[in-house]
Amino acid sequence: MPEEVSGDPLALLARWAEAGAHRTMTFATADADGVPHARTVLVTGIGADGVRFHTSTPTTKTRDIAANPHASAVFHWREQERQAVLQGRAVELDAAASRAGYLAQPRRLQVLAWAIRSLLPHLRAPDYAVPPGVMEEAFAAAAADPASHEPPDTWTTIRLEPDRIDFWQGGTETSPSTKTRFVRDGQGWRSFPVLP
Ligand SMILES: Cc1cc2nc3c(=O)[nH]c(=O)nc-3n(C[C@H](O)[C@H](O)[C@H](O)COP(=O)(O)O)c2cc1C
Repeated sequence: MPEEVSGDPLALLARWAEAGAHRTMTFATADADGVPHARTVLVTGIGADGVRFHTSTPTTKTRDIAANPHASAVFHWREQERQAVLQGRAVELDAAASRAGYLAQPRRLQVLAWAIRSLLPHLRAPDYAVPPGVMEEAFAAAAADPASHEPPDTWTTIRLEPDRIDFWQGGTETSPSTKTRFVRDGQGWRSFPVLP
């Protein structure tokens, strides 16, 4: 039987993410013309105020957010037959929060952030094509650079602040799939079942 879905939705999301044993989500943005862009990101925090991840700027996602803060995200846990879909606003956190996130990153992701930083000014929109070998060289140079133990100026942290979260669970032979919608209501949330 599907689990009872109630209580604080962000606490529930954190529990499902823990049970799902992976913390990636598909994060979708749209540019000023409404053209959508989606990608996978690694979630590093789920709290009362939203869901956060780290990234480089400027990238497609940070450009989109600057033009249009509305964003959506999907978590899918295949083993559990569960999904959570978030809708809300994406905001960039301040430098102190971003730095703390950087220091907690695995070394290879710190080095990657610096490699991206060193290449960004040399790549051209709209494709940002990278010549062969250049990324590997930039990665090796960043790894050897002591400055890479602190975040580059291109490092940023995004928080998706949801005002709607849908929790979906697969059904069985004898019970239907369920979907429970949580909608922000003042300081709290209201929830109700919707068609799955
Ligand atoms: C499993 C996985 C985790 C990823 N985590 C991140 C992440 O936390 N931050 C990030 O910027 N990109 C991450 N990426 C790369 C993004 O999917 C994407 O390629 C990159 O952020 C550029 O996206 P954009 O050009 O649409 O802004 C991850 C990719 C995968 C497959």
